[in-house]
Amino acid sequence: MAENIFISATSKSGKYEELIPQVTALIGNETNLIANMANVAAALNEVFQNLWTGFYLVENNHLVLGPFQGPIACTRIAKGKGVCGSAWQEEKTIIVPNVNEFPGHIACSNLSVSEIVVPLFRENKLIAVLDIDSTEENHFDTTDKKYLIQICQLLIKQ
Ligand code: SME
Repeated sequence: MAENIFISATSKSGKYEELIPQVTALIGNETNLIANMANVAAALNEVFQNLWTGFYLVENNHLVLGPFQGPIACTRIAKGKGVCGSAWQEEKTIIVPNVNEFPGHIACSNLSVSEIVVPLFRENKLIAVLDIDSTEENHFDTTDKKYLIQICQLLIKQ
């Protein structure tokens, strides 16, 4: 039985610094990517309590909804569509300070105001994205980017 996530830091970077070794332990003995994504989504949600935290996985021409925490979400996103599909097409992390100013943003929830999408690469091929939505404007920054990239890399090393 896994133990709970324990965080004592109050700063964002401090929380990530404490979370990363715990995520490493949490997923270290499991090789199934979906199972590990599910626990990573739960851990990120437990620590940061954003509106929506989850994964979309590449399947042919679409990103298909994977493990997540939060309200129900759209199940399929085409390449180049929305923030997730753009991160896939451009193969890079995208931070959107205000989704209302992002042309083509896909509103799964009208409570979502800002968003970060981080790609996961396996052998240089993009296989999935991590998507986190916040109800606050301009919620995500380069600190989130740096640590979420590390967390995504942990998932791929399995
Ligand atoms: N807003 C995303 C769609 C996924 S939901 O936010 C969970 C986008 O524009 O790609």
